[in-house]
Amino acid sequence: MKNFALIIAGILVIAAAAGYLFLNQMSIGKEIDMSDKKVLIAYYSYSGNTKKVAEKIQNITKGDIFEIVPKKVYSKNYDEVVALAQEEKQKDIKPELVDNGNVKDYDIIFVGTPVWWYTMASPVRTFLSKNDFAGKTIVPFCTHGGGGAASTYADVQKSAPGAKVTEGYTSYENSAKDSEIQDWINKLEL
Ligand SMILES: Cc1cc2nc3c(=O)[nH]c(=O)nc-3n(C[C@H](O)[C@H](O)[C@H](O)COP(=O)(O)O)c2cc1C
Repeated sequence: MKNFALIIAGILVIAAAAGYLFLNQMSIGKEIDMSDKKVLIAYYSYSGNTKKVAEKIQNITKGDIFEIVPKKVYSKNYDEVVALAQEEKQKDIKPELVDNGNVKDYDIIFVGTPVWWYTMASPVRTFLSKNDFAGKTIVPFCTHGGGGAASTYADVQKSAPGAKVTEGYTSYENSAKDSEIQDWINKLEL
């Protein structure tokens, strides 16, 4: 009887250890500690989806948050914005920002954007061009309307020479999940 109890106890210990290792591997429920890193979350959002992802990231990382705001407000008329954004992409127009931001004091900069014409939104191009990212880590994320990230992350890398650009987090419209974001950040091992 005593041996039987010992065997059961042994099995339970092994099962608990295996479960722990599995959850650890899956990055579930793992607290990340980024307190030794200076983290900035910079984002542009036209209609609020990317802003929500930025806020979720801020909640997890406790970094500083910076909204990229163009000086000239984009029209509320969707078709007008779509047309203007296409022109800005084609002519590589970088709209002026209210504040260009400053990434100097940060090690890790999350950069969030809606996908506009298969790439980052024009105000994000301005933000990247106005700051020096050499030696920094950029963690990109984007929201899209069905076409996926397309060229967004490759273009972020082109616009920020010298930066290490990690794997991005891509979500459809406002479907981003806290658990997915947590897993993505954990796996980056920042
Ligand atoms: C100017 C413009 C261009 C867009 N181009 C694309 C695109 O190329 N691919 C895509 O999947 N969605 C595209 N969308 C949809 C947005 O990426 C999507 O709605 C996104 O979640 C909006 O984010 P926001 O609410 O933070 O602005 C476009 C939207 C706008 C306004």
